Amino acid sequence: MQHKLKKIKQDIINELERTNTLDQLEDIYNRYFSRNSGRLTQLSKDIKKVATDQKPVVGRLLNQIKKEAEQMFAQAKQDINRHSGHDANEADFFDPTLPALGPKPGNLHILTKMQYEIEDIFRQLGFIVADGPLLESDWYNFEALNIPADHPARDMQDTFYVAETLKHKNTDAQKKPKLVMRTHTSNVQVRAMEKYGVPIRCIAPGRVYRNEATDARHEHTFYQIEGLMVGENISVANLKSVIDNMIKAILGEKFKTRIRPGFFSFVEPGLEVDMSCSLCRGRGCRVCKHTGWVELMGAGMVHPNVLKAAKVNPDKYSGFAFGFGLERLAMIRYNIDDIRLFHSGDLRFLHQL
Ligand code: PHE
Repeated sequence: MQHKLKKIKQDIINELERTNTLDQLEDIYNRYFSRNSGRLTQLSKDIKKVATDQKPVVGRLLNQIKKEAEQMFAQAKQDINRHSGHDANEADFFDPTLPALGPKPGNLHILTKMQYEIEDIFRQLGFIVADGPLLESDWYNFEALNIPADHPARDMQDTFYVAETLKHKNTDAQKKPKLVMRTHTSNVQVRAMEKYGVPIRCIAPGRVYRNEATDARHEHTFYQIEGLMVGENISVANLKSVIDNMIKAILGEKFKTRIRPGFFSFVEPGLEVDMSCSLCRGRGCRVCKHTGWVELMGAGMVHPNVLKAAKVNPDKYSGFAFGFGLERLAMIRYNIDDIRLFHSGDLRFLHQL
């Protein structure tokens, strides 16, 4: 009997190898398992005839071979299905016509997106987008902006300087202009007037550097957007209207701005622009120190000395300038509470916006 069982197993293996349709498979299955005449069914009946001491051994072998046979049939069925394209097992189903998943696409940094958005708003108002160097001469960053070397106003933005002289081993030391990592985008004011002449309407977005102890509100490296409009009869009213326009476009129609006196050497009068607090909408809360307003930017009417530095006649032309921090505006818009997140490179943050 044991011999017969082993023979049956070998027969099944041989027959399945030659099977490639489900009909054939069913035939073979019946030949072994059918209730009346199946070879395995028959052997199950014959077990009665086996000697008593042999019964447990033969019984175990019979069960094992039945189980193996069932598995072989199931496998054969799956193979036939797969070859004919009808896979019974959906998890294994592969559709080669579906588009590939591909790598996860990246996205623009939130500051880049906001910068582009703001550029678009200003373009609609007829502003061009100007650019300036990050490593700047002392002249454009300070002197031309009415901040002489010994003026106390320097202290507000004083920072690291790049060595005044660069010694080269084969040449005499050459006197180089004093250079500084620009502390604000205001360096573009005089550059833009020189390059494009007046009247001019431009904004200058870009990275700036400060000698700053960092915390949740301060970074040593951040972004500003400078605005400059110079022409005949330009007044504070033009400044207010342009800034209002931008804030409403970025944050919503409900936002208001106000101006109050402030000091920057390169503007006269100098102004600070506030906007209604985004958290309490002007009603007063902890963030706005119960005033209903938060500081937005420095601004003012371009100082005659700055116009002169750019060879523009201050008797004929006047203009306004403003400068604000891009991170700050993004923090207000998206309720971000730590400025250091922007440059952290943390993808959990960067993928959200
Ligand atoms: N440059 C100033 C700052 O960084 C802001 C400013 C720009 C003020 C233009 C007045 C006019 O604080």
